[in-house]
Amino acid sequence: MKQAARVRLRGTVAVPGDKSIAHRVALLASIARGKSVIERFPSGADCHRTLDVLEALGVGVGRKGDLVSVSGTGYFGFRRPASILYAGNSGTTMRMSCGLLCGQPFDTTLRGDASLERRPMRRVIEPLGRMGAVIESSEDGTAPLLIRGGRKLNGIHYRLPVASAQVKTAILLAGLHASGETVVEEPLASRNHTELALMGFGASVDLRNGCVRIIGGDPLGSAHIRLPGDISSAAFFVVGATILPGSHLVLLEVGLNPTRSAFLDVLRSMGASITVEEEHDFETERTGAIRVESAALTGVEVPAEIVPGLIDEIPALAVAAAFAEGETTIRGAAELRVKESDRILALATGLRELGVDVEELPDGLRIRGGGPMRPARLDGFGDHRIAMAWGIASLAVEGCEIQGKEIADISYPGFWETLDRTVA
Ligand code: S3P
Repeated sequence: MKQAARVRLRGTVAVPGDKSIAHRVALLASIARGKSVIERFPSGADCHRTLDVLEALGVGVGRKGDLVSVSGTGYFGFRRPASILYAGNSGTTMRMSCGLLCGQPFDTTLRGDASLERRPMRRVIEPLGRMGAVIESSEDGTAPLLIRGGRKLNGIHYRLPVASAQVKTAILLAGLHASGETVVEEPLASRNHTELALMGFGASVDLRNGCVRIIGGDPLGSAHIRLPGDISSAAFFVVGATILPGSHLVLLEVGLNPTRSAFLDVLRSMGASITVEEEHDFETERTGAIRVESAALTGVEVPAEIVPGLIDEIPALAVAAAFAEGETTIRGAAELRVKESDRILALATGLRELGVDVEELPDGLRIRGGGPMRPARLDGFGDHRIAMAWGIASLAVEGCEIQGKEIADISYPGFWETLDRTVA
């Protein structure tokens, strides 16, 4: 058995802008009136797929490094695209585009890469269908998707069967193109970036009793938005600095929206030393610097009801759990099976390779941490967040090899270089 490498993380890191918010702001800007400017737009492939889709629809998009401008056309100003629209690896691009396009006068076809074309799309097809949309998929409810044009949409009251901010957003985008009121009711709170962004663009949004209520045709004005840093990207550094003794790291200007920051609370409850230094709001999205010192962790039970608030941070959390004394249980996370990879399988496989006692559950993981670990070949499963989680684990377990590291570019180009730079 090899000893853990004596590396630690030091310094400051500015992670890329928030991917989730970037998609939403770009989409809303496209149907607003006037030119919107987005600062700190992430350079990752996913958000650029959304910009590509908008350009194919005739929307003016300017890209200058991390400064992006979008010249809105209003609700029905898109042009029929000359070819299929390609969402790449981005589930967010595909699902939200369904909401944006199902009320347009022309047909569109949406495709993605092999991973995306395996992911479930009925969850958007069904509610949008109730609004009057017609979206054809493969028999198993996956892409390619053919969105039929020329349908008149009506507002609905829809209770989401699973907490999904992507589905919520698709329905709200369709609702803006529909007649009357659209109400989305959530079983558990999912990220509320769409609601906040809608307000930022001047729409009236009624948020009461776990429901989001909007009115079709409510005009959107342009906006100038600086995106907070992506907490889902920061999560890997937070875990790295926690588990590597002697680390202290500051993550600058990170989004701390309470619907996204449950990961920090769970890690704190495990014993992590995390403090938030400054806090201010960017267009109502809370932002602050996160200071992390290394600390000994103990396992916890993650309550199922907070899982939607940390769903993308579970790969990082699983690595933390492997280094925590005792048992960590994550349940109520079956959604992980239909992310960019089956993340439950991917995490269980890699952790087992590392010698961790891990149990794969239908809807989560049980990890008994704190035991000895061994160097392993860790498969990124073609999934950015899995590859980055292994990047952190491999700093603590000397001699690991990661297969498919480059997939990190989906959300965090420069991740490996930044990690290298902070290793002291
Ligand atoms: C996202 C919502 C989540 C998340 C995904 C981004 C979003 O997916 O896992 O990475 O931006 O709305 P679901 O809506 O499917 O839960």
